[in-house]
Amino acid sequence: MAGQDPCSIFVFDAYGTLFDVHSAVRRHGDRLGPDAQAFSDLWRLKQLEYSWIYALMERYVDFWALTERALDFTFSKYPEVDRAVRGDLLAAYEELDAYEEVRTILEQLKGSGKELAILSNGSPAMLSSAVERNGLGDLFDHVLSVDGIRTFKTKPATYDLVTTAFRCFPSAVSFQSSNRWDIAGASAYGFQTVWINRTGQPDEYRDFSPLAQLKDLTGLLNL
Ligand code: LAC
Repeated sequence: MAGQDPCSIFVFDAYGTLFDVHSAVRRHGDRLGPDAQAFSDLWRLKQLEYSWIYALMERYVDFWALTERALDFTFSKYPEVDRAVRGDLLAAYEELDAYEEVRTILEQLKGSGKELAILSNGSPAMLSSAVERNGLGDLFDHVLSVDGIRTFKTKPATYDLVTTAFRCFPSAVSFQSSNRWDIAGASAYGFQTVWINRTGQPDEYRDFSPLAQLKDLTGLLNL
């Protein structure tokens, strides 16, 4: 990265960064009707809100349960959507699609000698089924879930999972996330950060800025 020592460890957020959280609703879009995208946005927003609030309360319910609770809230907000799709949406969420460039870019990073990991709020079962469905299992040195420490990002202890697993300093890690709030947490922790701004969001948390911003993972090879 310009002006920095090159990182040898690349760590990725999972949901929204590697895996498309909206692919579950898209698979069943015909059963959700015209509000499908708004439904998916609210589901994601509530899932994240619950993770932040539980972390602040220092209480823990795993991310899969929060995903179910967020979906149930979303159904309540959209009473016209048939709840019969609930099971199919959850099954699809367990096997979200990776974004199209993910496999190629991870292979190239791995081929150039980088060590790769996921650091995610996702429960271990959620992460392993998404990784397996997308055939990514051979690429990661570690798939790290916050579940072992029973809290959520942006608690510094969650980012400690990376430095502990790799026995490295934070500055040796390039951390990629599409979530600007996660980039803020990871930057505050001391990682070199790259915001994968897939949806063209405006910048925020300007006191904890990424070192670089990309629209997908492709540009990582050129940093
Ligand atoms: C994750 C969520 C926050 O994978 O995107 O940690």
